[in-house]
Amino acid sequence: TYVIAEPCIGEKDHSCTEVCPVDCIHPTQDEPGFAEATMLYIDPEECIDCDACVEACPVDAIFPEDLLPAQWAEYAERNAAYFKQ
Ligand code: SF4
Ligand code: F3S
Repeated sequence: TYVIAEPCIGEKDHSCTEVCPVDCIHPTQDEPGFAEATMLYIDPEECIDCDACVEACPVDAIFPEDLLPAQWAEYAERNAAYFKQ
């Protein structure tokens, strides 16, 4: 699956949602723990690993999970956890 990391916070460019063929990228509600709460997350159950969103994001916030930079590792669980609510 693909994961959206910290650069999305406060940016929310939304280009990723326009290119995703399965509409699996979703905005979040404000939640505790984020200084600027709102960002978008990818539903790992629906992502088909097409890679289209990576190029679309102007701030390089999206990564294949296995290439997620170590300092943003927590975002893999944040993306997944959001859809388990
Ligand atoms: Fe959507 Fe493809 Fe990005 Fe997965 S890799 S979130 S399917 S655009
Ligand atoms: Fe965020 Fe980049 Fe999409 S800033 S909303 S991941 S295009």
